Amino acid sequence: MINFIPEEKVQEILERVSIEQIISRYVSLRQQGQNYLGLCPFHNEKTPSFSVNPSKGLFYCFGCGVGGNVFTFIMKAENYTFAEAAEFLASQAGILLADNKLIKKADKEKNYLIDINTLAQKYYHYLLVESSKGKKALEYLEKRGISSNTIKEFGIGYSLDDWESLINFMKKRNVSLSKLEQVGLISPSSGNNSGYYDRFRGRIIFPIYNLNGLVIGFGGRIIDDTLKAPKYLNSPETKIFQKSKLLYGMNIARDEVRRKDLVILVEGYMDVIAAHQKGIKNTVASLGTAFTADQARMLKRYTDNVVIAYDADEAGQEAALRGLSILHENGCKIKILTLPEKSDPDDYIRKHGPEKFIHSIKNQAVPLIEYKLRIAIQKNNPDALEGKKKILDFIIGDLVEINSLVEREYYLRLISSKLGVTEQVIAAEIGKYSKRLQNIGANRDKKVIVRNNSKEKYLFGESVQYRVERFLAKYILENPQKIDWFQESVGLHLFQVSKFRFLIASLIKYIEDNEISDRFNFKAFMLTLPEESQSILSQLLNTNEDTYSLNDCVYIIKNNWYKTQIENLKKEISAAEECDQREVVDSLVLNLIQLQREWKK
Ligand code: UTP
Ligand code: MN
Repeated sequence: MINFIPEEKVQEILERVSIEQIISRYVSLRQQGQNYLGLCPFHNEKTPSFSVNPSKGLFYCFGCGVGGNVFTFIMKAENYTFAEAAEFLASQAGILLADNKLIKKADKEKNYLIDINTLAQKYYHYLLVESSKGKKALEYLEKRGISSNTIKEFGIGYSLDDWESLINFMKKRNVSLSKLEQVGLISPSSGNNSGYYDRFRGRIIFPIYNLNGLVIGFGGRIIDDTLKAPKYLNSPETKIFQKSKLLYGMNIARDEVRRKDLVILVEGYMDVIAAHQKGIKNTVASLGTAFTADQARMLKRYTDNVVIAYDADEAGQEAALRGLSILHENGCKIKILTLPEKSDPDDYIRKHGPEKFIHSIKNQAVPLIEYKLRIAIQKNNPDALEGKKKILDFIIGDLVEINSLVEREYYLRLISSKLGVTEQVIAAEIGKYSKRLQNIGANRDKKVIVRNNSKEKYLFGESVQYRVERFLAKYILENPQKIDWFQESVGLHLFQVSKFRFLIASLIKYIEDNEISDRFNFKAFMLTLPEESQSILSQLLNTNEDTYSLNDCVYIIKNNWYKTQIENLKKEISAAEECDQREVVDSLVLNLIQLQREWKK
């Protein structure tokens, strides 16, 4: 297995394979102008909205918003990791990847650390299943209903209650102490012979695998819950183990996640193991930490649909809420299952069986707003005026984002019945809130960046400003040699839509970093962008909506900027006047005059 694909190989692949040829094996494409059009393979549709742009090497679906380059396509279509996609594409193009000289030293190091982990995993597993010393641990697992097949499938093990047993085992295999420390299996100590001690002692060991099924770290659970030690101890962050980027169980869950088009997100090792053992194989865990955007992106490679089934305690609830917003920002459709008090999925499945669990996933998990409403009602009194206001405040931001009228009506009704406030009043509050959002959009200072794309679209709608920025961004990205013209006659500071501004800023940086004179390598530039921006760029370049003259663009964009600045200043002036701050007013008025003069020019 190749883990690292050198940059120059990626370049070579991108240059040698033709995206329309690769994609046409999955989709029947028909040429339309410069682009190709077909039915999207990633969602169900009857009229084609899937577009491929061969000259830029990009695809984009206007129906479901999936887009990217040929790597992105293969990763999605075949459920491959980046490395697997590279291997596949390289073989198509007749490029040899497994060239040792090109596999970087850093990567060899990482592979060695994985080898050490693999060895440790085998050692721990042996101690659990074959040695008499692991008897107590094995009994504990049996008591919790974990079968020997499951123990094998998850590679579960046991670490002796000893300070140097792993150290001694590794010594015999010529693994150096410094490597063991690097991989987080031992820690320095003054009291021991070797100057180190084993990290995991007297614990059940859960190996943690990456997407390719390689051991990158461990979690260890105490057997005796009455001990004062932390219940779980995990590998520290190392070169190969980053907790914020992985999901426990993803390596064995991903095919099922894709097939079911649904992932069940739980908190702990034991929840994943119990679910898988009972055949609920689309389950993964975030390992009790705050959910991250990296994890959301990983999930989104396989599905958009997430059911969160966290523990029923306060901590689980908080974690669910935080995870919710990250998943929501990344475009996932989320439902939340609330389990009976004091239970987690493992308890629930053991008590009520897997069918009942799946049934509740299907029938009792509620969408985001309903969940938030429920939490808000738990925390505030819906019968009191103050409580009603607080509850509505808590969910109004989400209500505003609902575009479907049917859905909106559903929630209006629901909230109205729960709060005893009429639907009209709630609708009016939503209207007020969205006005406020629009004002923020118009007034905000040019330095403020709105991160959330869906909000941004909401703020700007398809305003002229938005369209002009889109047109200009597309023009510049297609004609990077015009960047000097752009910086002189427009300037990035006039852009208000952050995603377009980010793309052009990245282009400027790329050109500066690479001192490009005449030949611009678009595909190389593309690779420097974060995944999300790659998708925005693909969409942009596959869009053919508006045409403006460049002069009009410059005029509109400048005009809007001055208008906004002047409006802002006027507001500041009247605010200062209200507070009787004469000096401030005077200096602001001077600014205003200056701005108005410039504007007229
Ligand atoms: P839980 O306390 O819910 O554990 O923590 P669990 O998985 O249900 O395990 P059992 O049923 O008590 O045996 C959820 C996850 O949070 C992390 C672990 O990843 C755990 O699986 N955690 C918890 C820690 O890292 N350290 C701790 O001390 C506790
Ligand atoms: Mn548990």
